[in-house]
Amino acid sequence: MSKQVVLIPGEDAAAEAFEETVIVLDCLIDHLGLDIEWIRPAVGQAGIDEFNNPFPDQAKHAIDHSDATLFGATSGKSGRALRYLRWGLESYANVRPVRWFPGCNSPLSAPEGIDLAIVRENMEDVYIGVEGDLKILQPMNFTSWLSNKPLNELGEGRFGLKVHTEKSVTRIVKYACELAIKRAELSNRNPILACGTKHNISPVADGYFRTIARETAAEYPEVTFTSLLADDLIHQLIINPQQFDVVVLPNLFGDLFSDATAALVGGLGLAPSGCYGENGAYFEAVHGTAPDIVGQNIINPTATILSAAMMLEYLGFDEPARQVIGCVEQIYVEGKYLTPDQGGQSTTTEFCNSLKEKLRSSNK
Ligand code: IPM
Ligand code: MN
Repeated sequence: MSKQVVLIPGEDAAAEAFEETVIVLDCLIDHLGLDIEWIRPAVGQAGIDEFNNPFPDQAKHAIDHSDATLFGATSGKSGRALRYLRWGLESYANVRPVRWFPGCNSPLSAPEGIDLAIVRENMEDVYIGVEGDLKILQPMNFTSWLSNKPLNELGEGRFGLKVHTEKSVTRIVKYACELAIKRAELSNRNPILACGTKHNISPVADGYFRTIARETAAEYPEVTFTSLLADDLIHQLIINPQQFDVVVLPNLFGDLFSDATAALVGGLGLAPSGCYGENGAYFEAVHGTAPDIVGQNIINPTATILSAAMMLEYLGFDEPARQVIGCVEQIYVEGKYLTPDQGGQSTTTEFCNSLKEKLRSSNK
C-alpha cells in the first residue's frame, strides 16, 4: 500500500522552501522506489471571510484519510488548514528538535552538543481560543489574588483564558517521557525531562500543569524529572543548553521557547517540527512565512527538509530519513551551498540541487 501524503504549501517564502523540498523528496522517491503518493487539496481563498468559512470538506477528507500532511507555513490563506491540522486532527504533541551540527551559523561560541527537543502541548493554554470583554466576567466578582483588586475595578478591558486539562497534560507528559526514554536509548544515557511553568504567578492553572506533569512523570521512574519556573528555564536554556534533553511545555511557552532555542543553533531556518496525535500527524517548519524575503529564492529550506525527514521516519522510512539528514549535514560541513541566513550566498534552489546530488550519489 502506498503512503498518502497531503501537501499544503502555505504562503510567501515558506511556500518556496516547501516546493523545493517536494522536488528533493521526489528525487528520493525515484531513487529509492518509495511508495509515496502526494495529494494537493484546495484549502480555500484568502479573504475577509476566512475565519468564518468552514474548511473545505474535500481537504478535511484528504487529511483524515492520508498517512501524514506536510505543511508550509501560513499568513492567512492556509490558516484554516492549520487549525484543522491541530484541533481537527488533535495533533496534541508538537515536537520541535533543536540540534546544532557543524556548519550551522550559531551565535554561541560553543554550540557543540546542543541536542534537545521541545515538546509543546499543541491545543490548549491560551490557544483554547476563548477571549472576551471583561464585562462578561465583572459581575462574577472575581478578585485578583495578586493585587487583591476586584475585577470590576479594572474598568474597560478584554480577557483571554488559559486552560490546562487533566487529559491534555497527562498525554503530553506521557509523550515527553516516552520520547525521553527513546532518545536516551539512542544516545546511551539516562532519560531526562524538564518542565517549565509559571506556577508562582499562576498557581491554579500552571500549578495544575506542574502537578499533573510531576504525577505523570512519576509513572516513568527511569526518567529524571525536573520542574522549573519558565523564566528560569529559558535563562538556563540560553546559558547552558547542553544540559537539557526533552523539555515539556504548555502551548504558549512552547511557542516562544522553540523560537528562542532555534536561535541558539543558527536560527529559524534550521528548526523543524512534527505534530503527533491519535488520529494522525503533520509536519511543518517552526518558522513563519517569511514575507520579507518572498520571491527572492533565498529562504533556507533546511527547516522544511528536516520536517520532511521527521515525516519520513513517522511513515516508517527510517533509512531514507537518515539519508536526508546525513546529506543536509554534509552540505553544512562543506559550506558551499548555504543560504544567506547561514552566512552563504546560495539560493534555495542551489541548496536543494546540492542535496539532490548528494542523495543521488549516496544511492548509486
Ligand atoms: C507556530 C506558529 C503558530 C503558533 C501560529 C502561525 C499560529 O507561530 O507554529 O509556532 O502560534 O503556534
Ligand atoms: Mn511560533
